[in-house]
Amino acid sequence: MKTYLIMSGKGGSGKSTSAINIAYGLALKGKKVGISDSDITGSNIAFLLGMKRTDIELLDYSYIKPFVWEKHGVKLEIMGMSFMTSSHTQPMLMKGDKKRIFVREFIDKVSWGSQIGSLDYMIVDLPPGSGSEAVSIIETLKKIDGVVITTTPSRVCLIDVAKTIKLCKKLELKIVGLVVSMSHFRCDCGKKSYIFGDNGGISKFADRYNVNIISQIPIVPLANTEPLFLSDFYTDAVKKISGRW
Ligand SMILES: Nc1ncnc2c1ncn2[C@@H]1O[C@H](COP(=O)(O)OP(=O)(O)OP(=O)(O)O)[C@@H](O)[C@H]1O
Ligand SMILES: [Mg+2]
Repeated sequence: MKTYLIMSGKGGSGKSTSAINIAYGLALKGKKVGISDSDITGSNIAFLLGMKRTDIELLDYSYIKPFVWEKHGVKLEIMGMSFMTSSHTQPMLMKGDKKRIFVREFIDKVSWGSQIGSLDYMIVDLPPGSGSEAVSIIETLKKIDGVVITTTPSRVCLIDVAKTIKLCKKLELKIVGLVVSMSHFRCDCGKKSYIFGDNGGISKFADRYNVNIISQIPIVPLANTEPLFLSDFYTDAVKKISGRW
């Protein structure tokens, strides 16, 4: 099983949306895919996928049964903190060590593959930031095959994403590339507007930090209720991960 992280120094830059669309794209290619939501206090994957909270079940008395999301015959296994709270808006008052325990449990103590067959890919959705929380998640994972970094074109986002790139390089993690979220907006009249910054800025940034831009995702209204509206735009990121260009 290959493990890919979705990371960004900036919050709200499209990590969870990218995790879902990349997992979905891989599943459409016939791969067995799981998403582990390691954003313990901001767990959004279940909500974005429209999954209702249901009780956790244990298999063999010690392993948690992963939840299964399914649409048009495409299935994903999912685990995250929001399945354990009374509602999607319930705050989690948890500090470093406790969060770390849950991150590990959501990888090691989930019976991944038990519902859809042995997994080919695990996609791990990280919380925002390039500090101690991200480092502790990375240390918790035994094997990481690559990192997808998300950004918007805004300059303040790029500053924080530069920190993420530097952290990945320092930890010798393979950077698959940058997903530029909310890169532009295409009006019904056909005009493209670069709302958060011009496209040239992103290319210069990518050159400067020696990373590839693997997908540019436009702003699509209602993406927060139907994130899979965006799946076609993630084709290149999916190809890059599955190794088929
Ligand atoms: N291309 C897009 N077009 C329109 N809305 C988008 C797009 N990508 C993401 N969004 C919306 O922007 C918000 C933030 O996206 P998302 O939750 O994926 O970011 P995140 O980086 O995971 O955030 P956090 O740091 O809080 O975990 C969500 O409401 C999501 O639906
Ligand atoms: Mg998120």
